[in-house]
Amino acid sequence: MNATAVFTSEQLWMPGFVANPYPTYHHLRDQSPLNYMLLPAGAVSGVKEPLRGWALMKHNDVYNALRDHETFVSGRNPLVGKVLPKLALLHDDPPRHTQFRRLVNKTFTLKRIEALTPWITSVANELLDGMGTTETDVVQSYTIPLPVKVIARLLGVPGEEYLTFKRWSEALMATTSMPPEERAQSNHEMLGYFGRMARDRRTHGAEDLITALVEAEVEGESLAEQDILGFCVLLLIAGNETTTNLLGNLLNILVDRPALWQQLREERSLVETVIEETLRYESPVQRLMRQTTRKVEVSGVQIPEGASVSIFYGAANRDPSAFPNPDEFRLDRDLRNHVAFGAGIHYCLGAPLARAEATITLNTFLDRFPRFTRGSTPAVRQTAGFILYGFQQLPLVLAPA
Ligand code: HEM
Repeated sequence: MNATAVFTSEQLWMPGFVANPYPTYHHLRDQSPLNYMLLPAGAVSGVKEPLRGWALMKHNDVYNALRDHETFVSGRNPLVGKVLPKLALLHDDPPRHTQFRRLVNKTFTLKRIEALTPWITSVANELLDGMGTTETDVVQSYTIPLPVKVIARLLGVPGEEYLTFKRWSEALMATTSMPPEERAQSNHEMLGYFGRMARDRRTHGAEDLITALVEAEVEGESLAEQDILGFCVLLLIAGNETTTNLLGNLLNILVDRPALWQQLREERSLVETVIEETLRYESPVQRLMRQTTRKVEVSGVQIPEGASVSIFYGAANRDPSAFPNPDEFRLDRDLRNHVAFGAGIHYCLGAPLARAEATITLNTFLDRFPRFTRGSTPAVRQTAGFILYGFQQLPLVLAPA
């Protein structure tokens, strides 16, 4: 991979940094919180003025800011409505966040996820059956379709419509690469579809999340249709590409460690630790934003009220003060404090589902392939956006037993 490391805080939005952020994190972490160029003017459509912010890269600072949701709020993000769509929960603060989260906690249960395990396993096997034994780009053939099919199934979207679903999901995030009219048309189509589904579930319930949301009540009141649709969109965005990136990062780490692969085939109890260490070592979500509601001191630096603060989960997870020798992939760490799924009130709702998909993937690959190797073309990191860390292309040759 030909990624150039950049070391200044003015370049934390550039593709070279996004493809390989870790040397830069190590270079800048001690100086953080540091004032940095969040986005230069014109870097993406809708942002006409340069946007500066503060970068938190130390584990302790990141963890404390995530837990202090009164000082570091989520609901005043200046990029929402311009570069990002407004998402329920993620861009909400209490009391609305508390109410809505309580409700979806009830609908998005571990039981529901566990019930899906046999079905997810059959989808994983079907996708692998379709690949053949020659070189394949696992991003296209596996890591993208699996999470999309899972979210579609959870919401109750028929399986054959999952490609349409994927198209909507991509259009939502294609902030720079798709003409605004085309995006608006796709969003309109998607909201119309979920609206029809919600109305249908009000008359004929089904065993899916949309039915659970339609039937749910907050203080005796049903949810507004807008909230139901907002939750569907949230799952599309929060649950797809994040998991795609976890699966790709996992396979990328293991393809270069044949001895570990062999060990895992013999000791399946290590699967969970490998997944947690992958989440720490190559965090799929590298950063998200908060806004300060007051002047606040972080590691001796004064951050003013109303400032944009980027929480660098990816940098915190490689902080040597929290994880000794952080650039080594190891199975003997205490991983309880990694922040790949965040912390505090916004802690990832889908963490159990993401873990289940990764566990099923790893076990299915281990069952079927005694070894696998890199393909003839290089792996390519995604650099289209600076929030996520994962692959655009990951060619592998999977050798069946
Ligand atoms: C490996 C995969 C995933 C990663 C790394 C990840 C990461 C995160 C992170 C870091 C947050 C915290 C956001 C914040 O601090 O503001 C978050 C929140 C969230 N995630 Fe995930 N996520 C993953 C998969 C999923 C899946 C599969 C779903 C759902 C199907 C999901 C749904 C959500 C939701 C709804 C929130 C918002 C929670 C709230 O604000 O209360 N995520 N995720």
